[in-house]
Parts: sequence; C-alpha cells; structure tokens
Amino acid sequence: MLTSQEIRKQFLDFFERKDHRIVPSSPVIPFDDPTLLFTNAGMNQFKDVFLGTGTREYKRAANTQKCIRVSGKHNDLEEVGFDTYHHTFFEMLGNWSFGDYYKKEAIQWAWELLTEVWKLPKERLYATVYQTDDEAFNCWITLTDIKPSHVLRFGEKDNFWEMGETGPCGPCSEIHINLSDNLDDASLVNAGTPDCIEIWNLVFIQYNRLSDGSLEQLKAKHVDTGMGFERLTAVLQGKRSNYDTDIFTPLIKRLESLTGKKYDSEVNQIAMRVIADHIRTLAFAIADGSLPSNEGRGYVLRRILRRASRFARKLDVHDPLIYKLVPTLVYTMGDVFPEISQNQKHIEEVIKSEEESFGETLDRGLEIFDSIVKKLKSEKSKVIPGEEAFKLYDTYGFPLDLTELMAREIGFTVDKQGFDELMEIQRTRSRESGKYFEAPSIMTKIEKTEVKRIDFLGYDKLESDAKVILQENEFLLLDQTPFYGEAGGQVGDTGKIIYNDIFLDVLDTHRDGDVIIHKIDSTNFDLTDKTVHAVVDKLRRKSIMRNHSATHLLHKSLREILGTHVRQAGSLVEPSRLRFDFTHYKKLTKEELKAIEQLINEKIREALPLIHHRNIPFEEAKKMGALMFFGEKYGDKVNVVQFGDFTIEFCGGTHVHNTTEIGLLKIISEGSISSGIRRIEAVTGDGVEKYIDEQLQKISELEEKYEKLLEEKKSLEKEFTRLKLKENLQEIDKIIARKKSLNGIYLASGIVKVDNLDQLKELADVLRTKFDGVGLLASVIDDKVLFVCVVSDNLIKERKLSAGKIVGDVAKVVGGGGGGRPHLATAGGKEISKIQEALNHFEKVVSSYISN
Ligand code: ALA
Repeated sequence: MLTSQEIRKQFLDFFERKDHRIVPSSPVIPFDDPTLLFTNAGMNQFKDVFLGTGTREYKRAANTQKCIRVSGKHNDLEEVGFDTYHHTFFEMLGNWSFGDYYKKEAIQWAWELLTEVWKLPKERLYATVYQTDDEAFNCWITLTDIKPSHVLRFGEKDNFWEMGETGPCGPCSEIHINLSDNLDDASLVNAGTPDCIEIWNLVFIQYNRLSDGSLEQLKAKHVDTGMGFERLTAVLQGKRSNYDTDIFTPLIKRLESLTGKKYDSEVNQIAMRVIADHIRTLAFAIADGSLPSNEGRGYVLRRILRRASRFARKLDVHDPLIYKLVPTLVYTMGDVFPEISQNQKHIEEVIKSEEESFGETLDRGLEIFDSIVKKLKSEKSKVIPGEEAFKLYDTYGFPLDLTELMAREIGFTVDKQGFDELMEIQRTRSRESGKYFEAPSIMTKIEKTEVKRIDFLGYDKLESDAKVILQENEFLLLDQTPFYGEAGGQVGDTGKIIYNDIFLDVLDTHRDGDVIIHKIDSTNFDLTDKTVHAVVDKLRRKSIMRNHSATHLLHKSLREILGTHVRQAGSLVEPSRLRFDFTHYKKLTKEELKAIEQLINEKIREALPLIHHRNIPFEEAKKMGALMFFGEKYGDKVNVVQFGDFTIEFCGGTHVHNTTEIGLLKIISEGSISSGIRRIEAVTGDGVEKYIDEQLQKISELEEKYEKLLEEKKSLEKEFTRLKLKENLQEIDKIIARKKSLNGIYLASGIVKVDNLDQLKELADVLRTKFDGVGLLASVIDDKVLFVCVVSDNLIKERKLSAGKIVGDVAKVVGGGGGGRPHLATAGGKEISKIQEALNHFEKVVSSYISN
C-alpha cells in the first residue's frame, strides 16, 4: 500500500518531470489578501499572476497547499465529522499554468497520473465539464480513453469555479470516482454521496469577477488545478473514509487511548472525526500566526475550538484534550510542514489555555441548553429563541453555529434573525463606547468625490503648504499633508493649521484607506479652497517616531531572545510610551526581560541607520524577508522599514533616521492580555528621563516615609519600655509585699518579664533600694533562666551574707551557676522548667549561710 507521504511525493515528482516549479505552500493566513479569511485554494498565492498584476519567473508550478475552508464562499464546516470526506483543513495538490499550457495538457496529464501512475480503474472515473465547454468535452473524448458516457456536462453551480465573491474564475472540469457497484450510474455524480466523490478539479481561469458581479475577460488563459490529498489517499489506500487513511489513523488512535473510547459507535466516530479534523485547522492556523480571539479569523478559530471541545464532551472528556493531539500531528506532518514542529509548544499552550477557559462555562452552557430544549418541548416548539441563543453566546461563550449544530442534532432550529438583532444592539453599544474620532459626514462627502488618496509628506517634512479641498465642520481634507493619520498602531499627529493670522489647532489626524483627515478645534472658519500652512507638533512627533522605531527593535529582540514563534499581535505607539502585544505562552523571566532590554539598547548604541524602502512591490518586500504583521492589509505597493541589518519589517509608520535618536529604552511592564498573548510597555528617550525622575521622586518619598516610620518605631519602643518598666516596678512592689522572714532576715523573690540581663539588673537595683533583706529575681531570657540576687549592706556586714554565693547555689537547680559581688550577683542555667523549683530552693540556700 502506498503511504500518504509517497502519494504526495509522486504527485510532485510527476509535475516536476513536466517542467513545473515545485513551490512551497503559502501560509493558511493570507496576509496580503483582505478578501480572504483563510487560504482556501492552492491558487490563492498566484491570484496576482492570474489577474495580470504580478509575475513569476516560471510559467508552470505545482505544490501541496495547506487550505482551510470554514468561511465565505468555500465553507465545509457543517459537513465535517458527519461524513467521511469533508475537512476544515486539507491539503490541496495542485498544478498551474500561467498563460502557458491549457485544457489539452491539463486533462491529458491528469488522466495520465491517475490511470497510468496510480492505475486507478478507468471504468470508475467520470469527468464533468461546464455545460458549454465543448473544448474540454472534446479533450476528454479524443485525448483520453475515458468511457464517453462518463463525460458529463453540468451548470454553473458545479462546473464554474470562483475563488470568492470577487477574483479569478472560470469554467472547470472535475474528475470523480465512483466507488459503488453501479459503475455506470451517472446520477451518482455530484449527488453528494460518499459512493461517488470528486477528487480533482481542473479550472480554466479566464475571468475576473468584479465586485458589481460582472465578469472581466483576463489577458491570458491559465490552468489552476486542485486535488484533495486526503480523498486521493483514501482512494489509493482502498479506504472508504479519509479518516481510515494513514493521515488520520494516528490521530484517531491517540484519541482512543486518551479517552478510553473506541472508534466504533456513531457518536464516538463523529466526535473523533470532528476533533481529528479540527486539531489540524487549529494547529496550522496558530503556526501561521493566528490566534483564537473575538473577531475575524480569530473568532473562526475560537468557534472551531469550541466545537471540538463540545465533541470532547460526547466522549465524556471534561478536561483539556485537544492540545494533547499536537505531538501526534507534529509526528505525522512535521517533516512536510516544519512550521508545526517549530511552533509545537506555542500551539499546545494556546489550545490548552483556550480549552481551559471555555471548559469552565461549557458544562454549564450545555445544562442551560438542555433546560431550554426541555421547556420548548413542553411548549411543542422546535425553534430556539434568539435571546436564548444570545444568552448562550454572551454568557457561556457558545458561538451561534455551535448552538445551531446542537439544535440540528435533535431536529431543532435557531431563530437566527432574533440572535442577529441582539448581536447588532450589542455591537452598536460597544462601538459607541469606543469611539473618539468619528467623522461620518465628511466620509460620506469624500466618498462622493474623486479623492481616493492624499499624499503623505510626513516622512520627510513636518510642515508644508497645502490646499483645503474639503471641509465639514471640524474636519479638514488637504490636498497633501505632513500630518500622519492614525494607522498601524501609531497615533495621529497634532499641530497647527495656519491661514493668514488664524491659527487652528489640529487635535487629531485620522486615516481612512489612503485618505488623511484632520480634526481641528474650531468650526468658525470655512477654509475650503484656501491655501494654508500645515505644521506638525514636532517634539511630539519625534517622540512618536522614537517609540515606533523602538517597537521594531523590540519585535526583533523578542524573536532573538524568546524564539521565532513570537509574532506581533498589536501595538500602540504614543509620544509618551509604546505598547507591544505579541504571541508567547508564558511569563517572561527577569533574565529574559533584561536580555531583551540589553539587546535593544545595544542596537540603539550601534547607531543603525534607517533604510526606508518606499512604495516597493509587495512581492519584492516579501523576498527581502521583511517581517509582516499578520492580519494587516497590504496593498500592491508597500513600505519597508529597515535598521541596519538587524530588523526589517513591513511598516507604513514614521521612524527615526538612526537608532541612536531613540536614546535609551526601558521596559516598564510585562504581562498577559489573553491566552497566548503578552504585552510589554516601554519608554524611550526623554520618556526614560521622565521615568527615572519619577522613580527617583518615588524613592525620595519612600525615604522620607521610611525615616518617619523609623522615628515612630523608636518612640513606640520607648513608650513600650516605659510601660513595661512601670509594670515591672509594680511587680517589684508585689514581690516586696510577699516578703518572708527567716531568722530576722527578710527574703523576697519572684519572676519578672524583661528582655535582657541589664534590665534584670536594673530591677534588682530598684529592689535593693526599696528593700532591706535578701532579694532574688528570675527571668527567662533567650531560652535561659537568669537570676539576680541582691543583699542589703547591713546583712553583708552583720550576717556575712553574699549575693554571689547565694545566686550560685540557686542556679545549680536549673543546671547552671554564677556568682559575683556580695551586694549584687547574677547567675543562669538552661533548665527553664525548673525556675519555680529554684525559687523555692532560695530560702534553703539563704538559711545555709546564716551564721548565728
Ligand atoms: N482552485 C480550484 C479549487 O479549489 C482548483 O477547486
């Protein structure tokens, strides 16, 4: 049996022998085509060649292209899992002719590869052609030995291929394989049955579909073919399901072992097929720079992931599961598509954290769904109301298509219109809360004029004369302007517009497509058709330029220090600081942050010059290896910003001429903003000065506070000591009051609380002055028992008593000793528990020294 690896290789080898250039697959994220959410066909990367706006150095090409079909014109999402041959992600094997060979060769070679190289049974093959395409029909009949009754004509729906709502298109000829026993049952073709499936589509590109729906004839005729690799593999491996081929079995097996379920019952099969399919879309989209989010393609990914999570529930798995398939996928596809092995960890982390965050609400949402259904059943309704679907969306994160899918499974539908209305209300609300630059009236006016682009002078000049070509209240349009309109994260310029002696403040500048709109602070003057002088606030703009250039150094440094999985996910460049969002899955360590900052500052000091490539063809920029910000729209002509040989990026913003102008960069914060995306904030140039000043100010304030606290602490301690002393003095009085008499000698003893021996001695002095007799004080200090004994002068003289001797004997009880002078002496021992015993022993000791 041929392996899928061999099949892929045989396809490419075949076309290489026919003089085709084997080209790499383009990313699944089509960064340069705003009409497409995901790459949906092999021809996407050649769209410009077909339209005549771009060229290649070869006229024939072939490849295997990663495709995702989940939105727009080509959307297979709903079939996936329920049948065995649709996918959200698949590989498309394709060959192309750019104004070179046409129908004849395309048909002949397809037949040759299928029937001679792969020896597919000719009696099972069918060819379809566009209803009026006699040329293709005749090619099949005369150039191949296909059964003539197997060549069929179909209409626009089946045999006219279009890339999207607009773009290259043309009639096509499809090859289908009939896997049933009724080899000559032509009604199976295009009937949507697994018994007879399309495997290869040969498109004869000759038109461009314009946005008004009309067709424009292209200058040259091209061939664009696409063969479903997974289907082909199933056919060549003799399997009736794509999921039984070696492309999918490792994933299915892994799912079996992870879930303990078998790929046998229908429920398990559907769930496993959905998950095995969806993991491929997720992994490849993330590898190519996309991330689950709440809008655009990010939301499509989120929907797919949530759909997969919900099917994991059908396998009784409630913990994150899908990310665990990444290693298996990398194992099976990583050598053909190294981007998934290079980004493996990132892919796993992103999927896992998405699964974790949705997992928390999914179970609750499923319960809510069940209760909604129960209620509807009792009301004999089968339509889930819009507001319930919206609640599931808004509170439990259920994408509408997930609710629809679940509804469909039980024969219900969803009131989509009701849902959409609520969604629109929410959108309007959030739009209104987020707006700060709204110029709807001037936009409508501009749309009615011929003005499609305004010359931006601000790369080289910060002031210029210009003519006001349109004014609407506080909004002005100049025929050319040095003002940068907010775009690509860089904020708009401010400054002045001067007309004679009227000075108007420009509060903000906005950009819409290539049109730049100024917002001024007054509506009192009509400047239409007047020549004015436009002056940008230079200091502010210079700060912005510093920060913008610094984001490029930061981007590159992040990729150097953390790895090339780091991609820009957004940025904000203001005069006072910069903010940079990027893909990375864990908190940066202090060392990493330091290394990044050091590298940037090194590059600043290296004084790298700006090399500004302006208005160069997109293709050329790509060839230069310029980094792109995925999700940005790029036109035919682009600007590329390069600093020395350190960084090179697509960028329309304004920059310093040399990195030294940045002065210094200081990172001031780092944190996570959503799963897999982190944010760094930094300051540069005088921003760092300001930052240092602020920090120093903070330090001196802290110092002041610290001094004050120290003083407070001291005075509190003093107060505390005073209080303690007072307490101890009272204790001394109590001890004296408890005195005992022994042969005419008074004895007084007791325990006091002190912190050190000095304090104990001080108290003993007090005792001695207040009391005639022998006194003993004990205290526990630092895990030891300390004693002080005092003897009054008359007893020393008349009765020969000595404090030193007495205290030494007492201390023996606690396992210690000591001594000293007759009037005051100290001793100590370790056995704290015997302190009372020692005090009790005191009387005996004294009596032993009394001489009569
Ligand atoms: N572009 C053609 C398709 O996607 C080959 O079917």
